[in-house]
Amino acid sequence: MEAKFPPDPVMTDVTTAWDDKFCDRCKMMSSSIIREILKFTQMPDMISFAGGLPAPELFPIRAFEEACAHVLKTDGQTALQYGLTEGYGPLKEALAERMGKYGVAAGPDNILLTNGSQQALDLIGRIFIGAGDVIVTGKPTYLGALQAWRVYRPRIVGIPVDDEGMQMDALEAALKIENPKFVYILPNFHNPMGVTLTLERRKKLVELAAKYGTPIIEDDPYGELRFEGEDLPPIVVLHKQNVIYLSTFSKIMAPGIRLGWVVAPEAIIKKLVQAKQATDLHTSTFIQMIAHDIVKRGILKAHAKEIKRVYGERRRLMTASMDEHFPEGVTWTKPQGGLFMWVKTPEHINCMELLETAVENKVAYVPGSVFYPDETGLNTFRLNFSNALPDKIVEGVKRLGRVLEKAIG
Ligand SMILES: Cc1ncc(COP(=O)(O)O)c(C=O)c1O
Repeated sequence: MEAKFPPDPVMTDVTTAWDDKFCDRCKMMSSSIIREILKFTQMPDMISFAGGLPAPELFPIRAFEEACAHVLKTDGQTALQYGLTEGYGPLKEALAERMGKYGVAAGPDNILLTNGSQQALDLIGRIFIGAGDVIVTGKPTYLGALQAWRVYRPRIVGIPVDDEGMQMDALEAALKIENPKFVYILPNFHNPMGVTLTLERRKKLVELAAKYGTPIIEDDPYGELRFEGEDLPPIVVLHKQNVIYLSTFSKIMAPGIRLGWVVAPEAIIKKLVQAKQATDLHTSTFIQMIAHDIVKRGILKAHAKEIKRVYGERRRLMTASMDEHFPEGVTWTKPQGGLFMWVKTPEHINCMELLETAVENKVAYVPGSVFYPDETGLNTFRLNFSNALPDKIVEGVKRLGRVLEKAIG
Protein backbone atom coordinates (compact mmCIF):
# COMPACT_ATOMS: atom_id res chain seq x y z
CA MET A 1 0.00 0.00 0.00
CA GLU A 2 1.30 3.45 -0.86
CA ALA A 3 2.20 5.69 2.16
CA LYS A 4 -0.13 8.65 2.58
CA PHE A 5 1.48 12.00 1.86
CA PRO A 6 1.42 14.21 3.80
CA PRO A 7 0.94 11.81 6.72
CA ASP A 8 -1.74 12.48 9.38
CA PRO A 9 -0.34 14.56 12.28
CA VAL A 10 0.24 12.82 15.64
CA MET A 11 -2.75 13.71 17.80
CA THR A 12 -1.85 15.30 21.16
CA ASP A 13 -3.30 18.18 23.16
CA VAL A 14 0.06 19.11 24.77
CA THR A 15 1.37 22.53 23.71
CA THR A 16 4.99 23.50 24.20
CA ALA A 17 5.72 26.13 26.88
CA TRP A 18 8.19 27.93 24.65
CA ASP A 19 8.82 30.75 27.15
CA ASP A 20 10.27 28.23 29.63
CA LYS A 21 12.70 27.03 27.00
CA PHE A 22 14.38 30.36 26.21
CA CYS A 23 17.85 30.68 27.75
CA ASP A 24 18.89 33.47 30.15
CA ARG A 25 20.77 35.24 27.37
CA CYS A 26 17.57 35.42 25.36
CA LYS A 27 15.83 37.24 28.21
CA MET A 28 18.26 40.11 27.64
CA MET A 29 17.03 40.54 24.07
CA SER A 30 14.60 43.35 23.33
CA SER A 31 13.14 44.93 20.22
CA SER A 32 14.70 48.23 19.23
CA ILE A 33 12.26 51.03 20.04
CA ILE A 34 13.26 52.59 16.72
CA ARG A 35 11.93 49.54 14.88
CA GLU A 36 8.72 49.84 16.95
CA ILE A 37 8.39 53.55 16.14
CA LEU A 38 9.04 52.82 12.47
CA LYS A 39 5.85 50.76 12.48
CA PHE A 40 3.60 53.69 13.21
CA THR A 41 5.55 55.97 10.95
CA GLN A 42 3.91 54.03 8.11
CA MET A 43 0.58 55.70 9.07
CA PRO A 44 -0.81 58.03 6.38
CA ASP A 45 0.27 61.70 6.68
CA MET A 46 2.88 60.88 9.33
CA ILE A 47 6.12 62.84 9.02
CA SER A 48 8.85 60.77 10.57
CA PHE A 49 12.23 62.06 11.71
CA ALA A 50 12.69 58.82 13.64
CA GLY A 51 14.49 56.27 11.46
CA GLY A 52 18.15 56.54 10.51
CA LEU A 53 17.20 56.20 6.89
CA PRO A 54 19.20 57.61 3.98
CA ALA A 55 17.33 59.46 1.22
CA PRO A 56 15.99 56.63 -0.99
CA GLU A 57 15.66 58.86 -4.06
CA LEU A 58 19.48 59.05 -4.09
CA PHE A 59 20.12 55.30 -4.17
CA PRO A 60 22.31 54.49 -7.20
CA ILE A 61 19.77 52.07 -8.66
CA ARG A 62 21.09 52.31 -12.20
CA ALA A 63 24.61 51.46 -11.05
CA PHE A 64 23.24 48.43 -9.20
CA GLU A 65 21.37 47.29 -12.31
CA GLU A 66 24.52 47.53 -14.42
CA ALA A 67 26.70 45.90 -11.76
CA CYS A 68 24.26 42.97 -11.34
CA ALA A 69 24.18 42.31 -15.06
CA HIS A 70 27.96 42.65 -15.38
CA VAL A 71 28.78 40.37 -12.43
CA LEU A 72 26.39 37.64 -13.58
CA LYS A 73 27.63 37.82 -17.14
CA THR A 74 31.35 37.86 -16.42
CA ASP A 75 31.66 35.71 -13.28
CA GLY A 76 28.23 34.38 -12.33
CA GLN A 77 29.61 31.08 -11.07
CA THR A 78 31.80 32.72 -8.44
CA ALA A 79 29.00 35.11 -7.48
CA LEU A 80 26.57 32.30 -6.75
CA GLN A 81 29.03 29.93 -5.04
CA TYR A 82 30.03 29.74 -1.34
CA GLY A 83 32.88 32.13 -0.57
CA LEU A 84 35.58 32.82 2.03
CA THR A 85 34.50 34.03 5.48
CA GLU A 86 37.06 36.87 5.30
CA GLY A 87 35.36 38.34 2.24
CA TYR A 88 35.71 38.60 -1.52
CA GLY A 89 39.43 39.16 -2.23
CA PRO A 90 39.17 41.91 -4.88
CA LEU A 91 36.75 43.88 -2.66
CA LYS A 92 39.15 43.60 0.29
CA GLU A 93 41.95 44.91 -1.92
CA ALA A 94 39.78 47.77 -3.17
CA LEU A 95 38.81 48.61 0.42
CA ALA A 96 42.44 48.52 1.55
CA GLU A 97 43.20 51.05 -1.20
CA ARG A 98 40.17 53.16 -0.33
CA MET A 99 41.04 53.13 3.37
CA GLY A 100 44.60 54.13 2.44
CA LYS A 101 43.27 57.28 0.74
CA TYR A 102 41.30 57.97 3.93
CA GLY A 103 44.59 57.76 5.87
CA VAL A 104 44.06 54.26 7.26
CA ALA A 105 46.94 51.90 6.42
CA ALA A 106 45.49 48.39 6.01
CA GLY A 107 46.34 45.33 3.93
CA PRO A 108 43.69 42.83 2.81
CA ASP A 109 44.58 40.63 5.83
CA ASN A 110 43.48 43.42 8.13
CA ILE A 111 39.99 43.49 6.61
CA LEU A 112 36.85 41.43 7.24
CA LEU A 113 33.60 41.93 5.30
CA THR A 114 30.44 41.75 7.43
CA ASN A 115 26.67 41.94 7.04
CA GLY A 116 26.68 45.65 7.83
CA SER A 117 28.50 47.17 10.78
CA GLN A 118 25.75 45.81 12.96
CA GLN A 119 27.14 42.30 12.50
CA ALA A 120 30.64 43.56 13.32
CA LEU A 121 29.28 44.92 16.61
CA ASP A 122 27.75 41.55 17.45
CA LEU A 123 30.96 39.70 16.54
CA ILE A 124 32.92 42.07 18.76
CA GLY A 125 30.53 41.27 21.61
CA ARG A 126 31.01 37.54 21.00
CA ILE A 127 34.79 37.62 21.17
CA PHE A 128 35.32 40.18 23.94
CA ILE A 129 32.39 40.34 26.36
CA GLY A 130 31.79 37.84 29.12
CA ALA A 131 29.12 38.21 31.81
CA GLY A 132 30.10 40.98 34.22
CA ASP A 133 32.87 42.43 32.01
CA VAL A 134 33.04 46.21 31.90
CA ILE A 135 32.72 48.07 28.61
CA VAL A 136 32.77 51.84 28.16
CA THR A 137 30.45 53.70 25.79
CA GLY A 138 29.26 57.24 25.31
CA LYS A 139 26.23 58.43 27.22
CA PRO A 140 24.30 58.56 24.90
CA THR A 141 25.53 56.06 22.31
CA TYR A 142 24.32 54.04 19.30
CA LEU A 143 21.32 51.97 20.38
CA GLY A 144 22.21 49.07 18.07
CA ALA A 145 25.51 48.58 19.91
CA LEU A 146 23.72 48.47 23.28
CA GLN A 147 21.28 45.98 21.81
CA ALA A 148 24.05 43.81 20.36
CA TRP A 149 26.09 43.78 23.57
CA ARG A 150 23.51 43.62 26.36
CA VAL A 151 22.89 39.92 25.63
CA TYR A 152 26.47 39.18 26.71
CA ARG A 153 25.67 40.78 30.10
CA PRO A 154 28.41 43.38 30.44
CA ARG A 155 28.41 46.19 32.96
CA ILE A 156 28.18 49.27 30.74
CA VAL A 157 29.93 52.41 32.02
CA GLY A 158 28.56 55.48 30.24
CA ILE A 159 30.72 58.57 29.68
CA PRO A 160 29.00 61.92 29.01
CA VAL A 161 29.18 63.31 25.48
CA ASP A 162 29.06 67.06 24.76
CA ASP A 163 29.41 69.24 21.66
CA GLU A 164 33.06 68.15 21.30
CA GLY A 165 32.36 64.43 21.65
CA MET A 166 33.10 62.09 24.56
CA GLN A 167 34.43 63.92 27.63
CA MET A 168 38.01 62.84 28.18
CA ASP A 169 38.21 63.84 31.89
CA ALA A 170 35.28 61.58 32.68
CA LEU A 171 36.81 58.84 30.54
CA GLU A 172 40.10 59.01 32.43
CA ALA A 173 38.27 58.92 35.77
CA ALA A 174 36.52 55.73 34.64
CA LEU A 175 39.66 54.11 33.22
CA LYS A 176 41.47 54.72 36.53
CA ILE A 177 39.06 52.51 38.44
CA GLU A 178 37.67 50.13 35.82
CA ASN A 179 39.53 47.72 33.58
CA PRO A 180 37.20 47.73 30.58
CA LYS A 181 37.42 45.36 27.66
CA PHE A 182 37.18 48.34 25.33
CA VAL A 183 36.00 51.90 24.81
CA TYR A 184 33.36 52.27 22.08
CA ILE A 185 33.50 55.60 20.30
CA LEU A 186 31.58 57.28 17.45
CA PRO A 187 34.03 59.97 16.34
CA ASN A 188 32.19 61.48 13.37
CA PHE A 189 28.63 62.84 13.43
CA HIS A 190 27.71 60.75 16.43
CA ASN A 191 24.52 58.72 16.42
CA PRO A 192 22.36 60.04 18.10
CA MET A 193 23.95 63.46 18.83
CA GLY A 194 25.47 64.48 15.50
CA VAL A 195 28.60 65.83 17.25
CA THR A 196 32.20 65.17 16.20
CA LEU A 197 35.14 64.33 18.48
CA THR A 198 37.66 67.17 18.24
CA LEU A 199 41.26 66.52 17.18
CA GLU A 200 42.46 67.37 20.67
CA ARG A 201 40.13 64.80 22.21
CA ARG A 202 41.07 62.19 19.58
CA LYS A 203 44.72 62.56 20.59
CA LYS A 204 43.81 62.45 24.28
CA LEU A 205 41.70 59.33 23.73
CA VAL A 206 44.59 57.52 22.07
CA GLU A 207 46.93 58.62 24.86
CA LEU A 208 44.53 57.44 27.60
CA ALA A 209 43.81 54.15 25.85
CA ALA A 210 47.55 53.45 25.61
CA LYS A 211 48.18 54.52 29.22
CA TYR A 212 45.46 52.26 30.64
CA GLY A 213 45.84 49.41 28.12
CA THR A 214 42.30 49.80 26.77
CA PRO A 215 41.45 48.91 23.16
CA ILE A 216 39.26 51.30 21.17
CA ILE A 217 36.32 50.31 18.97
CA GLU A 218 35.95 53.12 16.42
CA ASP A 219 32.54 52.98 14.69
CA ASP A 220 32.57 55.29 11.69
CA PRO A 221 29.56 54.93 9.37
CA TYR A 222 29.28 58.67 8.72
CA GLY A 223 32.89 59.86 8.26
CA GLU A 224 32.48 60.23 4.49
CA LEU A 225 29.34 62.33 4.89
CA ARG A 226 30.87 65.63 5.95
CA PHE A 227 29.12 68.55 4.24
CA GLU A 228 30.69 71.38 6.27
CA GLY A 229 34.10 71.98 7.86
CA GLU A 230 37.33 69.99 7.63
CA ASP A 231 37.84 66.21 7.87
CA LEU A 232 39.61 64.95 10.98
CA PRO A 233 41.90 61.90 11.05
CA PRO A 234 40.24 58.63 12.06
CA ILE A 235 41.43 57.41 15.47
CA VAL A 236 42.85 54.26 13.89
CA VAL A 237 45.30 56.51 12.02
CA LEU A 238 46.57 57.84 15.35
CA HIS A 239 47.09 54.40 16.88
CA LYS A 240 46.67 51.50 14.47
CA GLN A 241 47.54 48.61 16.82
CA ASN A 242 45.05 49.60 19.51
CA VAL A 243 41.96 50.24 17.38
CA ILE A 244 39.28 48.11 15.75
CA TYR A 245 37.75 50.28 13.04
CA LEU A 246 34.27 49.70 11.58
CA SER A 247 32.67 51.20 8.50
CA THR A 248 29.86 50.39 6.11
CA PHE A 249 28.41 50.87 2.64
CA SER A 250 25.00 51.54 4.24
CA LYS A 251 25.19 55.33 4.08
CA ILE A 252 27.25 55.84 0.93
CA MET A 253 25.69 53.11 -1.26
CA ALA A 254 22.54 51.58 0.27
CA PRO A 255 21.70 49.98 3.64
CA GLY A 256 19.60 47.22 2.04
CA ILE A 257 22.72 45.48 0.70
CA ARG A 258 23.89 44.90 4.33
CA LEU A 259 27.60 45.30 3.65
CA GLY A 260 30.15 46.63 6.12
CA TRP A 261 33.79 45.99 6.99
CA VAL A 262 36.20 45.82 9.90
CA VAL A 263 39.82 46.99 9.86
CA ALA A 264 41.87 45.47 12.69
CA PRO A 265 45.20 43.81 13.51
CA GLU A 266 45.44 40.36 11.89
CA ALA A 267 45.05 38.43 15.16
CA ILE A 268 41.72 40.17 15.82
CA ILE A 269 40.49 39.53 12.27
CA LYS A 270 41.26 35.81 12.78
CA LYS A 271 39.11 35.66 15.93
CA LEU A 272 36.30 37.62 14.29
CA VAL A 273 36.44 35.24 11.32
CA GLN A 274 35.94 32.26 13.68
CA ALA A 275 32.96 34.00 15.28
CA LYS A 276 31.51 34.86 11.88
CA GLN A 277 31.94 31.31 10.56
CA ALA A 278 29.60 30.07 13.26
CA THR A 279 27.11 32.81 12.51
CA ASP A 280 26.66 32.86 8.73
CA LEU A 281 29.73 31.29 7.03
CA HIS A 282 30.27 34.43 4.98
CA THR A 283 28.69 37.60 3.67
CA SER A 284 26.87 37.24 0.32
CA THR A 285 29.48 36.83 -2.43
CA PHE A 286 27.04 38.19 -4.98
CA ILE A 287 26.51 41.43 -3.03
CA GLN A 288 30.24 41.84 -2.42
CA MET A 289 30.96 41.44 -6.14
CA ILE A 290 28.30 44.01 -7.00
CA ALA A 291 29.71 46.47 -4.46
CA HIS A 292 33.19 45.81 -5.82
CA ASP A 293 32.02 46.50 -9.37
CA ILE A 294 30.46 49.81 -8.28
CA VAL A 295 33.59 50.82 -6.32
CA LYS A 296 35.83 49.84 -9.25
CA ARG A 297 33.85 51.95 -11.70
CA GLY A 298 34.65 54.97 -9.53
CA ILE A 299 31.14 56.35 -9.25
CA LEU A 300 31.10 56.50 -5.46
CA LYS A 301 33.04 59.74 -5.26
CA ALA A 302 30.51 61.68 -7.33
CA HIS A 303 27.68 59.87 -5.57
CA ALA A 304 28.99 60.80 -2.09
CA LYS A 305 29.32 64.41 -3.27
CA GLU A 306 25.65 64.46 -4.25
CA ILE A 307 24.54 62.86 -0.96
CA LYS A 308 26.52 65.44 1.00
CA ARG A 309 25.02 68.31 -0.98
CA VAL A 310 21.48 67.11 -0.34
CA TYR A 311 22.01 66.28 3.34
CA GLY A 312 23.75 69.61 3.93
CA GLU A 313 20.77 71.43 2.44
CA ARG A 314 18.30 69.40 4.52
CA ARG A 315 20.23 69.96 7.76
CA ARG A 316 20.32 73.70 7.11
CA LEU A 317 16.63 73.75 6.27
CA MET A 318 15.79 71.81 9.40
CA THR A 319 17.78 74.06 11.73
CA ALA A 320 16.38 77.19 10.06
CA SER A 321 12.84 75.83 10.55
CA MET A 322 13.66 74.98 14.17
CA ASP A 323 14.91 78.54 14.72
CA GLU A 324 11.54 79.72 13.50
CA HIS A 325 9.15 77.24 15.14
CA PHE A 326 10.74 75.76 18.28
CA PRO A 327 9.95 77.52 21.57
CA GLU A 328 12.49 79.10 23.89
CA GLY A 329 14.35 76.73 26.20
CA VAL A 330 14.83 74.10 23.49
CA THR A 331 18.36 73.71 22.08
CA TRP A 332 19.87 71.50 19.37
CA THR A 333 23.18 70.47 17.81
CA LYS A 334 24.20 71.69 14.33
CA PRO A 335 25.98 68.68 12.81
CA GLN A 336 28.50 69.24 10.00
CA GLY A 337 27.71 65.86 8.47
CA GLY A 338 25.92 62.57 8.96
CA LEU A 339 22.20 62.02 9.42
CA PHE A 340 21.17 63.14 12.91
CA MET A 341 20.72 66.09 15.21
CA TRP A 342 20.02 66.12 18.91
CA VAL A 343 17.42 68.18 20.71
CA LYS A 344 17.36 69.11 24.39
CA THR A 345 14.19 70.39 26.06
CA PRO A 346 13.84 71.92 29.53
CA GLU A 347 14.45 69.34 32.29
CA HIS A 348 10.79 68.88 33.23
CA ILE A 349 9.75 67.62 29.78
CA ASN A 350 9.65 63.84 29.42
CA CYS A 351 10.27 63.26 25.71
CA MET A 352 9.42 59.56 25.99
CA GLU A 353 5.90 60.48 27.15
CA LEU A 354 5.66 63.41 24.75
CA LEU A 355 6.18 61.06 21.79
CA GLU A 356 2.56 59.92 22.08
CA THR A 357 1.35 63.51 21.62
CA ALA A 358 3.80 64.02 18.78
CA VAL A 359 2.48 60.92 17.00
CA GLU A 360 -1.12 62.11 17.51
CA ASN A 361 0.04 65.27 15.72
CA LYS A 362 1.54 63.14 12.95
CA VAL A 363 5.20 63.71 13.60
CA ALA A 364 7.73 61.24 15.06
CA TYR A 365 11.18 61.35 16.66
CA VAL A 366 13.22 58.93 18.78
CA PRO A 367 13.21 59.69 22.53
CA GLY A 368 16.81 60.26 23.63
CA SER A 369 16.66 58.08 26.75
CA VAL A 370 16.85 54.89 24.66
CA PHE A 371 20.39 55.81 23.67
CA TYR A 372 21.56 56.06 27.29
CA PRO A 373 23.03 52.91 28.83
CA ASP A 374 21.29 53.93 32.09
CA GLU A 375 18.10 55.17 30.37
CA THR A 376 18.48 58.74 31.65
CA GLY A 377 18.34 61.72 29.25
CA LEU A 378 14.54 61.94 29.36
CA ASN A 379 14.55 65.58 28.17
CA THR A 380 16.23 64.75 24.85
CA PHE A 381 15.31 63.37 21.44
CA ARG A 382 16.94 62.55 18.10
CA LEU A 383 15.88 63.91 14.73
CA ASN A 384 16.92 62.49 11.36
CA PHE A 385 17.35 65.08 8.62
CA SER A 386 18.40 62.91 5.65
CA ASN A 387 15.20 61.07 4.85
CA ALA A 388 12.31 63.54 4.60
CA LEU A 389 11.84 65.76 1.54
CA PRO A 390 12.23 69.54 2.11
CA ASP A 391 8.50 70.38 2.34
CA LYS A 392 8.02 67.58 4.88
CA ILE A 393 10.96 68.85 6.92
CA VAL A 394 9.37 72.29 7.20
CA GLU A 395 5.89 70.92 7.99
CA GLY A 396 7.22 68.30 10.45
CA VAL A 397 9.25 70.88 12.36
CA LYS A 398 6.17 73.14 12.52
CA ARG A 399 4.10 70.29 14.01
CA LEU A 400 6.83 69.43 16.48
CA GLY A 401 7.18 73.10 17.42
CA ARG A 402 3.47 73.23 18.31
CA VAL A 403 3.75 70.04 20.41
CA LEU A 404 6.77 71.40 22.27
CA GLU A 405 5.21 74.82 22.79
CA LYS A 406 2.12 73.28 24.38
CA ALA A 407 4.18 70.95 26.59
CA ILE A 408 6.53 73.68 27.77
CA GLY A 409 3.66 76.10 28.32
C1 LIG B 1 26.86 54.22 14.75
C2 LIG B 1 26.30 53.12 13.93
N1 LIG B 1 26.95 51.96 13.88
C3 LIG B 1 26.50 50.93 13.14
C4 LIG B 1 25.35 51.05 12.41
C5 LIG B 1 24.86 49.86 11.62
O1 LIG B 1 25.05 50.07 10.29
P1 LIG B 1 24.91 48.94 9.19
O2 LIG B 1 23.77 49.32 8.32
O3 LIG B 1 26.22 48.94 8.48
O4 LIG B 1 24.69 47.63 9.89
C6 LIG B 1 24.64 52.26 12.40
C7 LIG B 1 23.39 52.39 11.64
O5 LIG B 1 22.67 53.33 11.69
C8 LIG B 1 25.13 53.32 13.19
O6 LIG B 1 24.52 54.50 13.25
